Amino acid sequence: MAAFRFAPMQASDLAWVAAQDRELYPFPWSEGNFSDSLAAGYGCWMMFDGAEPVGYAVLMRVLDEAHILNISVVTGRQRGGLGRLLLAHLADRAREAGAAQLFLEVRPSNAPALALYAGAGFETIGRRKGYYPAQGGREDALVMRLPL
Ligand SMILES: CC(C)(COP(=O)(O)OP(=O)(O)OC[C@H]1O[C@@H](n2cnc3c(N)ncnc32)[C@H](O)[C@@H]1OP(=O)(O)O)[C@@H](O)C(=O)NCCC(=O)NCCS
Repeated sequence: MAAFRFAPMQASDLAWVAAQDRELYPFPWSEGNFSDSLAAGYGCWMMFDGAEPVGYAVLMRVLDEAHILNISVVTGRQRGGLGRLLLAHLADRAREAGAAQLFLEVRPSNAPALALYAGAGFETIGRRKGYYPAQGGREDALVMRLPL
């Protein structure tokens, strides 16, 4: 497998990241959401294949918990194992920072993400009613947890 590399997201990455988010999600984050995450000191990560950015993620730590707020692999590179690597990177960073549990929210309709998380050992521990905006209404969120 190619040598993938992770690097902290920089202000100069923000426009690219926000453009990818618009391509990947029906309700994307704005560039401001990403720059706010950087300013808040969240773990904002870029994933590169050589010089080419292929993914990004945002990890928030609160006391002994970490929360994945965003995890994304660019359209043309999905289903090649990158998401699994990016998720493992986030779990390693969270563990290293002293977190004992890793949480995330996911749409029940997001089958690829659900399969990724279940394969990594996440368990569904709850459901937030109407958490996400959706076409013509709202969609619940499944809350998932991985002990670290
Ligand atoms: C979810 C996402 C990050 C997965 O990244 P990826 O690089 O495609 O995932 P991987 O190739 O590492 O796949 C790992 C496992 O996840 C599951 N998976 C990934 N994509 C899948 C798909 N389209 N259908 C079914 N299972 C899938 C499989 O179990 C896969 O293992 P396998 O290939 O051995 O069967 C990627 O699809 C993505 O960025 N989607 C858009 C943004 C998004 O929805 N992010 C998550 C928000 S909660």
